[in-house]
Amino acid sequence: MEFSIKNGNPEKQRNACVIVGVFESRKLSAAASALDRASDGYLSSILRRGDLEGKLGSTLLLHNVPGTLSDRVLLVGLGKERDFREREYRQAVQASIKALDGRGANDVASFLAELPVKKRDLAWRIEQLVELTVSSVYRFSHPQCKKVEERRGVYKLVINVPQRNDLKLGDAALKRGLAVAEGVRLARDLGNLPGNICTPTYLAEQAVELAKSYGIKVEILERADMEKLGMGSLLSVARGSRQPPKLIVLQYNKGKSGQKPVALIGKGITFDAGGISIKPAAEMDEMKYDMCGAASALGTLKAVAEMDLAINLVVVIAASENLPDGDASKPGDIVTSMSGQTIEVLNTDAEGRLVLCDAMTYAERFEPAAVVDIATLTGACVIALGHHATGLFGNSDSLVKELASAGEESFDRAWPMPLWDDYQEQLKSNFADIANIGGRAAGSVTAACFLSRFAKKFDWAHLDIAGTAWVSGKEKGATGRPVPLLTQFLIQRSEK
Ligand code: BES
Ligand code: MN
Ligand code: ZN
Repeated sequence: MEFSIKNGNPEKQRNACVIVGVFESRKLSAAASALDRASDGYLSSILRRGDLEGKLGSTLLLHNVPGTLSDRVLLVGLGKERDFREREYRQAVQASIKALDGRGANDVASFLAELPVKKRDLAWRIEQLVELTVSSVYRFSHPQCKKVEERRGVYKLVINVPQRNDLKLGDAALKRGLAVAEGVRLARDLGNLPGNICTPTYLAEQAVELAKSYGIKVEILERADMEKLGMGSLLSVARGSRQPPKLIVLQYNKGKSGQKPVALIGKGITFDAGGISIKPAAEMDEMKYDMCGAASALGTLKAVAEMDLAINLVVVIAASENLPDGDASKPGDIVTSMSGQTIEVLNTDAEGRLVLCDAMTYAERFEPAAVVDIATLTGACVIALGHHATGLFGNSDSLVKELASAGEESFDRAWPMPLWDDYQEQLKSNFADIANIGGRAAGSVTAACFLSRFAKKFDWAHLDIAGTAWVSGKEKGATGRPVPLLTQFLIQRSEK
C-alpha cells in the first residue's frame, strides 16, 4: 500500500476512484456535495431513485460521473449525522476499502478523513484511516501455508485534507499511522503462524531479525541460563516440550541516558495444549494464538523503532510450549520461582502466569519506571468482557489510568478490573507460598492477583488480551491488538 496526503477538490481528482460519504437520509457530506454541484445534481438524482439511503456501511459505486475527472465515485453510507462517532467512522472507512476489493480501482482518493467525528481531530482521523486500511487489505501469507492469490483492490490511497495548511499535520499523522500499522501487521503475522512453525526458537529468531534491522540490543537466554537464574516456574512449563524454551530480551535505548525504561513483558506460549491438565479437543487449534502477548510486544517495539521514539524500552518475552508428556509437570507439583516464592501447580493449564512471573522477576534488573505484561491469560476474561475490551489490572492507579486513556485515544480499548486484596485469599495453598489457580470465581482477577505477587518492586499493569488478540469463526485470525494501545501509551510517555 502507498499513502499520501493531499488537498484538493473531489471533482478535480484524476484517480480510479474518489470516495465520499453520505449521511442518512441521503444527506450529502461536503465532498459529496461538491461532486453533486460539479455534476449538475447527478448524485442527488441517483439518491432520489432510492439506491442509497446512507445506512452505515452501505456503498454504491458509480462510473463516469459527469463533470468529474475520476473513473469512479464510491458513495459510502455514514448513518445518522448526529450519531457519527468513532465506531461509525471506522466502520465507514472499512466499508469503503471492502467495496473496492477485487475491483480495478487501485489508485484511490478518499475524502472520508474530512468528516467531522465528535471529539476527534483530523490527525486522529487520518491515523485511524491508515491503520484500518492497512488492516483491511491484510492477507496472511507464508511459504509453508496456503498460497494467496495476488490481491486486487486499493493499492494507492490519497487521503484528502480540508485545507492546504493541514498538509504538514497530515503527513505526521500518516507516518504515525503507518508505524502502528506495521507493528500490528507483525503481531498478526506472528499470531497467525501455526505452532509447528512459530516455536519459541522461531520467536527468538524473529526478535533477532527485528533487533538487527533497527539496531536494537537483543539477548536470548537459553534453558541453562534460566536454570542458573533459578527460573523454576518458567522451566516447569517447558518440561513437557521437545522445543527448548527461550527468554527473549530486547533493549531499545533512544530515551535520555539514565532514564528508567518501560518494560513490556509478553506471554509467548507458542502452543497451549494445557499440559497434563489437557484441554478439550474442540478449537484447541486456537491455542497457537497463546503467544499473542509476545507478538504484540514485538509489534509495539517495531512501531516505536519505526517512529524513532525518544524512549527507553525493554521487551522481555517468555517463550515456551505447554504440552503433556511423561516428563511434564503434574498437578500438585511444587516449583520455586526466581523470586524465591514457591508455587503449587494445581492446574498445568494455568501456565501463562507461571512463565510470566519469572520474566517479571527478571525485569527487576532494569529498574523499570513501569512494567506492563501482555497475555492471553484467561478464558474467564473473555466471559467478563467479551471481545471488545482488553482486561486491565495493575498496582498503580496512575499507570492503569494512563493505559486506559491510551486505549481510548487509539480506540484499542481496555477496561479496568478490580485487584483487591479480598481476591488474594483464593490463591492460598496448603503446601506452597501460593497456588497457581484460584477457583472458578473471578478467574481473570485471581490470575492477575497471582502476577501481582511478583510485582512488588515496580509499578505494574497487566493486560489480559484473551478476548481481543484474535477473532474466532470463519474469518479467524490474529487482530494485532493491543499494539495501537501500547504504542499510544509509549508516545504519551515519551512526551512527558
Ligand atoms: N491460554 C489460556 C487462556 C485462554 C483460554 C485464552 C481460552 C483464550 C481462550 C490459559 O493458559 C489457560 O488455559 N487458562 C485457564 C486457566 C485456568 C486453568 C485457571 C483458563 O482460562 O481456562
Ligand atoms: Mn493454559
Ligand atoms: Zn495459555
